[in-house]
Amino acid sequence: MKVLVCGKGGSGKSTVAALLAKSMAKRGFNVLVVDSDESNYGLHRQLGMELPSTLMDHFGGKKEMMGKMRRSFAGGEEASLFDEKWTFASIPAEATTEKDGIRLLAIGKIHDFGEGCACPMGALSRKFLDNLAVGNKEMVIVDTEAGIEHFGRGIEAGCDAILAVLDPSYESLLLSKKIAEISKKINKPLYFVLNRVDEERKAAMLEFLEKERVAAAIPEKKEIFRAGLAGDEFDFAVAEVEGLADLLTG
Ligand SMILES: Nc1ncnc2c1ncn2[C@@H]1O[C@H](COP(=O)(O)OP(=O)(O)O)[C@@H](O)[C@H]1O
Ligand SMILES: [Mg+2]
Repeated sequence: MKVLVCGKGGSGKSTVAALLAKSMAKRGFNVLVVDSDESNYGLHRQLGMELPSTLMDHFGGKKEMMGKMRRSFAGGEEASLFDEKWTFASIPAEATTEKDGIRLLAIGKIHDFGEGCACPMGALSRKFLDNLAVGNKEMVIVDTEAGIEHFGRGIEAGCDAILAVLDPSYESLLLSKKIAEISKKINKPLYFVLNRVDEERKAAMLEFLEKERVAAAIPEKKEIFRAGLAGDEFDFAVAEVEGLADLLTG
């Protein structure tokens, strides 16, 4: 199963992705976390890992990769970077870091100012996800960049379910509507994960959301806040995320 985690900036995408990864690994799954947010600098810390070198680097860096894609476009064929279908086993080891049944793969990072548009990363994310075969007891969790730009690039097409992380804000509610429209169009199941909510906030948000889509409601938690702030590993379980894992595997 491939799960896409999306939402507005700061809503808790990386937090939910990391906690879900840990929960799935504990259940005996081989988990691949794909960091497709080029401006994410906390996810690897939440997983207790070092930053891997990127998939973009594996393909020779941005320029090289774009050149290759352009050449195959010019040849009248769909741009392809992959000669064959990949499985978990064929993902290059040097492009991932690994800990306790979880592998982290970063698509690309903006190393320097002025490297400009993130589109090549969107393209590479899409190609990679389309090309990856996922077996039994394997799960891919894609942590996406903020907003819905990545939807336009078709990353979601290669996924089996979409998790929209919504904090109690107008922006998140607005985004939830857009994501719902898109998920309907491409016919993918969509779940909402409410984050940083108490009962009162949850009830207020439910006035604007389709209730049956709400898969979890995570309160503000001291241990998440502390670990997030300090850049420490999430070495605790969160009951609401366990419930989400039950739902996804059940
Ligand atoms: N339920 C929560 N309780 C306390 N802190 C949270 C919670 N969810 C997220 N945070 C904190 O908020 C910050 C932003 O979360 P993050 O997952 O990085 O957002 P995003 O990936 O959507 O930009 C992090 O420091 C994280 O630790
Ligand atoms: Mg993030």
